[in-house]
Amino acid sequence: MCGIVGYVGSSLAAPILLDGLRRLEYRGYDSAGLAIHDGKQIEILRTVGKLGRLSEALRAHPLQGTVGIGHTRWATHGRPNEVNAHPHVAGGVAVVHNGIIENHLALRHELESDGVKLLSDTDTEIAAHLVNRALSNGCSTLFEAVRHALRQIQGAYAIAVVCASEPGVIVVARNASPLVIGLGDDANLCGSDIPALLDHTRNMVFLDDGELAEIRAKQVRIETVDGRVVQRPPKHIDWNPMMAEKGGFKHFMLKEIHEQPRAVEDTLRGRVNLAAGDVAGEEIGLSAEVARSITRVYFVACGTSYHATIAGRYWIEQLARVPAVVEMASEVRYRDPVFTPTDLVVAVSQSGETADTLAAVKAARAQGAKVLAVANVLDSAIPRLADASLYTHAGPEIGVASTKCFTAQLAALLMLAVYLGRRRESLTEERARQVLQALIEIPNQMRTLLGQAPYLLGIAKRFVNATDVLYLGRGLGFPIALEGALKLKEISYIHAEGYAAGEMKHGPIALIDENVPVAVVCPRDSLYEKVISNVQEVRAREGRIFAVATSGDSAIAELAEHLFLLPEVREEVLPLLTVVPFQLLAYHVADYKGTDVDQPRNLAKTVTVE
Ligand code: AGP
Repeated sequence: MCGIVGYVGSSLAAPILLDGLRRLEYRGYDSAGLAIHDGKQIEILRTVGKLGRLSEALRAHPLQGTVGIGHTRWATHGRPNEVNAHPHVAGGVAVVHNGIIENHLALRHELESDGVKLLSDTDTEIAAHLVNRALSNGCSTLFEAVRHALRQIQGAYAIAVVCASEPGVIVVARNASPLVIGLGDDANLCGSDIPALLDHTRNMVFLDDGELAEIRAKQVRIETVDGRVVQRPPKHIDWNPMMAEKGGFKHFMLKEIHEQPRAVEDTLRGRVNLAAGDVAGEEIGLSAEVARSITRVYFVACGTSYHATIAGRYWIEQLARVPAVVEMASEVRYRDPVFTPTDLVVAVSQSGETADTLAAVKAARAQGAKVLAVANVLDSAIPRLADASLYTHAGPEIGVASTKCFTAQLAALLMLAVYLGRRRESLTEERARQVLQALIEIPNQMRTLLGQAPYLLGIAKRFVNATDVLYLGRGLGFPIALEGALKLKEISYIHAEGYAAGEMKHGPIALIDENVPVAVVCPRDSLYEKVISNVQEVRAREGRIFAVATSGDSAIAELAEHLFLLPEVREEVLPLLTVVPFQLLAYHVADYKGTDVDQPRNLAKTVTVE
């Protein structure tokens, strides 16, 4: 997620903006920039890399002026280079932006047909031109010009705009991307998040979706895009800066668990076409011809990403009717694997830098296979090697234990399966529409489940002293059993094992007694009866059961000691919901144990070594 800071006051803006951006560094970024109004014109400074580079540039080229905006960019559209760094300029207008403009391609084509020459690959530059064009076409103020531009934009944005013709003014707007206004004594500020403003004020006004504001040193006014005046009293924020970086959550991991609805929404944004029951091809990066020529989908990944590919395989086979295999990248790279030119190798990696996955991709490319990368970091090593990339838009994931990237990967892989199924005519438009409808309902269903998070505190206490925990699941519940076990062991250091429930009778059932908690993925799906039988087998051996099940299921209620209930949803989308209680359970067990939840012992966020 990008970082935005703005300042209007009587002090030099540049150092204040730089400090504010430093407070947002935890969000991750790959370039940064400033736009300062010196009273006559707008001065721009942009650098690739960390803020130290921008700070050096500022020392070499001091920017005078008491009004300005600053930005740290987490690349989503367009490589992380200076041309794509914010602020973006059009005429006397400078814009910084956080979010995704869904209709950026249509707007780009419209501007270019008007003779506008766009210099960057970003969707943000388009917004700058829309504002500049509105000013040129008669909008009397920057506020009105921004409003006019927003009426043409679809998608998620938090933007801050300055223009040469209006010194002393910053116009900001928000839709689906957070933006907060800080009310100072002799200055006012704005930012993507509270930490950027805390050094100057604790009185903050939070914009809502569809609102814009005009910020001056002594006055702030807010209206909706459709012209209604908004009066909103400020909130007093008493967080310390560290708490603020975590959004008030105790750990980044908990914050990221709660960010999952937004991560899934942003990953779906601009890609799902419900009317056509389809997924936007240009977002997948595979032509219809390639989609139809594939004879095998070969997933390679590690860890949590590997678990996502197991779900991906089910979806590819069920919806696209293509043979699919999943392989741990660390195994396939040393097995002298056989790939063919009609293989589609799907490499899933949130970092895009995992050494084992990268090596597997190289092995696949050496034998002519097509490679599709599913990654969260734009332009990272694996997408750079791939023929096409389908990016998740989860924003930077700080906690070593992956959570929001996992559910964003699931959303991306389900979209991929629908896209391939529709191209290969193995999936009807109607079923595709039903699956996609269920998928776009997931974020709000996740929000409802996350509202029940405190319920898991009590259950977590039952796991704290366990030495072994068994996770069981079938079908799309199997990768969630694996993921639930991995989450518990990697942050609480309690041994946990995920198993296909159907395999229990082939060995693991010998583990079951009253001392071994058993977590079961048991929603109402096509394998429910089978899983319930497994639960009865566990119960018959005094096993203590924690079940994730579907609301209204009285059978499981009689067997399980603890239940976490889900709404009734289509089977295809269940993994995006069943994983949430297991993430929360692992988190609370680890928090009770007092382990380093965000940086567990022996682990790295990105495993760039073998
Ligand atoms: C997940 O919680 C772990 N941190 C780890 O298994 C991780 O998923 C694995 O290292 C793969 O990382 P990647 O997605 O960046 O390739």
